[in-house]
Amino acid sequence: MTSFVDRRSELAEIQRLVSTARLVTLTGTPGVGKTRLALRAAAGLGRRLPDGAWLVELAEIRDDALVADAVAQALRVHHLVDRSPLDAVREFFRDRRALLILDGCEHLAQGCAELVGTLLRDVETARILTTSREALAVGDERVFVVAPLGLSNGAPGRNGTPVAAAHLFADRASAVSPHFALTTENAQLVNAICHRLDGLPLAIELAATRLRVLSVEHLMHRLDDRFAVLDAGHRTGARHQRTLRATVDWSFDLCTPQEQAMWARLSVFVGRFDLAAAAYVCAVDGVDPESVFGVLDGLVAKSILQVRTQAGQVRYWLLDTLRQYGAQRLRATDTQATVRRRHADWYLDLVERAEREWFGPEQISWLARMQAEWANIRAALEFHLSSGDAELGARLAGALWFYWTNSGPTNEAGYWLDRVLALDTKPSALRAKALWVAGYVAIVRNERDRAADWLAQARPMAAQFGDRLLEAWIVGRQQSMATIQGEFDRGMALGEEALRLFEEAGESDGAGAALVHTTTATIGMFRGDVGATTAASNRAQAICRAHGERWIQAFTLANLGRLAWMRGEAEQAIELTREMIRLRRGGPQPAALLPALEQMSWATEAAGQHRRAATLQGALHQLRRTFAIPVNTKVPAVYLLDPTQSCERRTRLALGERAYTNAFRRGTRIPIEDIATFALGEKAKPDQRTVGPQLTRRELQVAHLVAEGLSNREIASRLTISTRTAESHIEHLLGKLGLNSRAQIAAWVAHSLQDRPTPPTS
Ligand SMILES: Nc1ncnc2c1ncn2[C@@H]1O[C@H](COP(=O)(O)OP(=O)(O)OP(=O)(O)O)[C@@H](O)[C@H]1O
Ligand SMILES: [Mg+2]
Repeated sequence: MTSFVDRRSELAEIQRLVSTARLVTLTGTPGVGKTRLALRAAAGLGRRLPDGAWLVELAEIRDDALVADAVAQALRVHHLVDRSPLDAVREFFRDRRALLILDGCEHLAQGCAELVGTLLRDVETARILTTSREALAVGDERVFVVAPLGLSNGAPGRNGTPVAAAHLFADRASAVSPHFALTTENAQLVNAICHRLDGLPLAIELAATRLRVLSVEHLMHRLDDRFAVLDAGHRTGARHQRTLRATVDWSFDLCTPQEQAMWARLSVFVGRFDLAAAAYVCAVDGVDPESVFGVLDGLVAKSILQVRTQAGQVRYWLLDTLRQYGAQRLRATDTQATVRRRHADWYLDLVERAEREWFGPEQISWLARMQAEWANIRAALEFHLSSGDAELGARLAGALWFYWTNSGPTNEAGYWLDRVLALDTKPSALRAKALWVAGYVAIVRNERDRAADWLAQARPMAAQFGDRLLEAWIVGRQQSMATIQGEFDRGMALGEEALRLFEEAGESDGAGAALVHTTTATIGMFRGDVGATTAASNRAQAICRAHGERWIQAFTLANLGRLAWMRGEAEQAIELTREMIRLRRGGPQPAALLPALEQMSWATEAAGQHRRAATLQGALHQLRRTFAIPVNTKVPAVYLLDPTQSCERRTRLALGERAYTNAFRRGTRIPIEDIATFALGEKAKPDQRTVGPQLTRRELQVAHLVAEGLSNREIASRLTISTRTAESHIEHLLGKLGLNSRAQIAAWVAHSLQDRPTPPTS
């Protein structure tokens, strides 16, 4: 993140507004700094927001209908069942002092107004800060108009101190030209430049990068030539937009033809993307994929493209204004259709690869990858469906089943599946699969009638098109439905039928069969049949282990652990549940650990470890609260009653009120990410929590140049910095990455960019 330039009085005013009003909107012209200011203000609220601030980047969605889904996803309450995303969001904010930041509302005025209106009406504690080019016009909205950065006339401000705009310029200038500093000699020119740019932060950032090749005087002259025509008019919104537009046009003109083409093409990405995706999507019409990294680097150097390392992965993105500009440029070319199609192809290929590989050792990273790429995958779905390509839409939605049912957004899945199913109603194998996915998602959401209906339509269609494997999967889900309804005999029969079909399809040892065995084990567990449960679980486990798979394996341990607990074999229940926690740990959804942790608390109580059980109950209370998960969720009525409450009662009785409360409170203070460690009885290692090194943009550039094999001197000249500075960047890199040679830096870069482009399958 680049440094923040002082806006002390604005920050104080916004913080005051947020503390007193429930809805505050920051409006202002594009690039004036609304987003930056909102984030900074929230960060500064600290203790006044004990439950944190939650950011939703709305540029990632296009449809008002998805606003609540996007918010639920940002809060990580999207996977849970039995309720709409709006209910989940409402539940999340209930009794909480948290701030919701909706960033970039202008294109979703209706969806935002609905969500905000509902939250303000139903949840007294909800506080919302939005940024938008226009006010939302909802309830008691307090509008704060963000003005450009402070300017001073000619000379530095009073007492000779430069004002905000000049500070921003100087900061960004010294990033490209390390010897640059604001002095009494150049202050007047810098002020004049900032005036020219109306104090617009984005314009100032773009212009400052020119100091890589120009002196301050030259920069001023260039701007004078370029902007002479703009002088008319007051400092109004319209004028600011013209100034920004002129600056962006100028930046565009100063890009090389390759950079210009790349800028336009990159606008098809939504949210963040990696090098491999950019290299595949944009390398058309004579652009060599190998050259893409260099071109991206050029755009980063010009402040057009943002870059950050997240969990060891390098991700790029365009600020919204610059993305929209790129999109306009792209529209004027004939590559638009090609590039948009390649974007959709790339993500279809990625998802289909994930579908083939998720039932294996890379499972957790595939699920995390789907989550990280979700904005772009969603854009690909939108592309296929809005261009009327029912087949590719169905392929993409069909391949996403494993993500949607394991940790993905289930309500949004329903949105896409409804659109897929409505687009083309002609029977086909692909439609049968989409119906099955819709049924599966409905089961996860506990929408039983819908699920039964979709599955009943899917089966004959799969049979009609001779797709044995799909039929087997469908019957497997019907078995699961029957089990949920308490129809155990029917469940057993459907399980046998599904296994027969899997065998006919030559897939007796895949994910589908493993799930059937697991459901059979669940029936055994509910019947208290140790032999049947163990036999079916062993079969499921053998399949999962052979694939190096963890997720479904954890289900089998849930059955075995619960059965042991039901039979009073507390120690064994603890042992089995421990294994279950180990398997579920580290996934992209911390809430996915809840069932395992809950089972551990019952087993711990049964083993007579009451204090520990009470602490776990406190930790679970906190976990449920964090993800707005009610007790009793997902426990179908035909099953045994959820033991959570009775277990808490027993623990409380055993310990006495005082001791219980103390132990429970201790649990509520365990950080969410350490609960599993506590449940396993391990000591928390602080270093387990760091995710990827935090490199500065410059360090990242240096790392890439090291990887290209450049010497310190070559790096210095490439970046127009001194050799000493280059050396010191390398020192920092080695320190931050915990490495001790240049070769290791090169290996690190190669590893974090390991996904080379591969051709799509279509
Ligand atoms: N006070 C500041 N200090 C440092 N950088 C700033 C400041 N304000 C804005 N910027 C930078 O200026 C650029 C534009 O800011 P930002 O994205 O916040 O504008 P915005 O008003 O949200 O634009 P949009 O209408 O396109 O969403 C960003 O690169 C941001 O980091
Ligand atoms: Mg913004």
